Amino acid sequence: MDNQAFEMHGENLRSASHGKQWPQKEERKGGWSLMKVFLVCLLACVITTAIGVLILSLVYVNNPPFVRDTDGGDKGASSSNPEEKSVDVKFQFLNHLGKSKVYTYPGGEIQWARFRNDVNEYLSDEEMAFGKSINNHRSKMTFGTLRIKSKGLRAPHWHFNANEHGYLLQGTAWVGVIGPDDSVVTTYNVTAGQVIFFPRNTVHWIKNVGPDECLFLLFFTTHEELQTLDVDDAFFSTPEDIAARALQPQGGVNFIRTFKKQAEDQAVNLPSNLNELVQNATYVQSPDNLVWQYFYDLKGSAEYPFPGGIFQWARYRINGTGLNETERIFSESLNKHENTLTLATLRIFSNGLGQPHFHFNANEMGYVISGCAQVGVILSGVTASFNIGIGDVIFFPVGTQHYIKSVCDEDLLLILAYSTGNQLETLRMKDYFRRTADHILAQLFFKQQAEFKNFP
Ligand SMILES: *[C@@H]1O[C@H](CO)[C@@H](O)[C@H](O)[C@H]1NC(C)=O
Ligand SMILES: *[C@@H]1O[C@H](CO)[C@@H](O)[C@H](O)[C@H]1NC(C)=O
Ligand SMILES: *[C@@H]1O[C@H](CO)[C@@H](O)[C@H](O)[C@H]1NC(C)=O
Ligand SMILES: *[C@@H]1O[C@H](CO)[C@@H](O)[C@H](O)[C@H]1NC(C)=O
Repeated sequence: MDNQAFEMHGENLRSASHGKQWPQKEERKGGWSLMKVFLVCLLACVITTAIGVLILSLVYVNNPPFVRDTDGGDKGASSSNPEEKSVDVKFQFLNHLGKSKVYTYPGGEIQWARFRNDVNEYLSDEEMAFGKSINNHRSKMTFGTLRIKSKGLRAPHWHFNANEHGYLLQGTAWVGVIGPDDSVVTTYNVTAGQVIFFPRNTVHWIKNVGPDECLFLLFFTTHEELQTLDVDDAFFSTPEDIAARALQPQGGVNFIRTFKKQAEDQAVNLPSNLNELVQNATYVQSPDNLVWQYFYDLKGSAEYPFPGGIFQWARYRINGTGLNETERIFSESLNKHENTLTLATLRIFSNGLGQPHFHFNANEMGYVISGCAQVGVILSGVTASFNIGIGDVIFFPVGTQHYIKSVCDEDLLLILAYSTGNQLETLRMKDYFRRTADHILAQLFFKQQAEFKNFP
């Protein structure tokens, strides 16, 4: 039966592909002709439908990454989608996080600058332009803010598809990280100005143990949607008898049945009767060799001044050059994992300038903590300049030249992430000008060679 069917298809395919021949065949094999005409029409129908569906899916389904990547990303601005034409080019590089949806939980809030598979999830065309941009450029970055109320708990959870790097801007939190295999748990009170690093698939929790709200600025190493599983959701999705056999509690499955799933999503929780539930909270701290794999004192680390401001770095250094013991542990931990980020804080003094420059090996994403600035970005074929203020997220795809000029009375303070676990490679405009021969510049700019002595 199967063979027959296959052969019939084969025949039809041949007929269809040699379209001119089959009318002759039809004459010869008169008895078959009606059947054949029908089958060929049917096949034609199927093919036409398939092509139709394919075209529709190319047009409507979220596939621009591939379409745009083929023209090298330069045309990122001139979108093929007419709806997007009205959106300012700058929104490929700028996201007003403050205007994004606030995901509210009993114990806190989460906001995102991210890519969505379903375009209807974007609140605005501007947000969509940014989401598509970080995805089209294969940025390996997503940004989010996490606020946790005093005593609130970001539920233990893990991310399937991303490392998490973050900066605690304010507050104090007791963090736990559970690694693989021997399931070593590392716990630490992280304080403002420190960096966290949760490798992909490590289970981690964050409990606010201070009186003030915690504010975490988080970078995840994916430009797809982040895939996360909370431990309570994993528990309630496991059949009771399986959970009982895995966890082996006293009272067995009957004890498991006493657990009640909360009606509301408890991603960040804060039970109203917490004081009844918890009496003996202890906040143990693990030894240094464990702690500094996941934490780094960015605020306390060495300052790298430049004429307009100061950099501080949380990054991998080959051979741990210039690092102290705790920093070296962090550097090696970053290097052990794939797709890690380099983090930095950048302070640009009032009126200071972050020179035009670009990076060879990393996309860059940043969040404005304080101050304000004017930013310029040049992609091949696209230029944009715009102002940024507190709560804005910026994105500079690899290779794009950019500058940042601090324009408020207050210093500009940014937290930055670069999508490389290696040392960042950078070229400044002033350096590539200096390194280009005078006569090449003279010819390029139609100017006397001697005039180029004016550049220092
Ligand atoms: C961590 O913070 C908690 C809450 O403030 C405190 O009770 C505990 O002593 C701290 N642990 C360490 C080791 O600092
Ligand atoms: C809390 O600690 C006290 C003293 O160590 C102990 O008597 C009590 O049973 C503990 N309560 C719980 C719920 O663990
Ligand atoms: C190592 O550097 C960190 C900052 O990155 C600092 O907090 C810490 O005190 C330093 N440790 C020693 C032993 O100097
Ligand atoms: C760093 O390590 C590399 C190879 O492991 C070596 O070639 C280089 O000399 C080292 N540099 C320093 C400053 O120790």
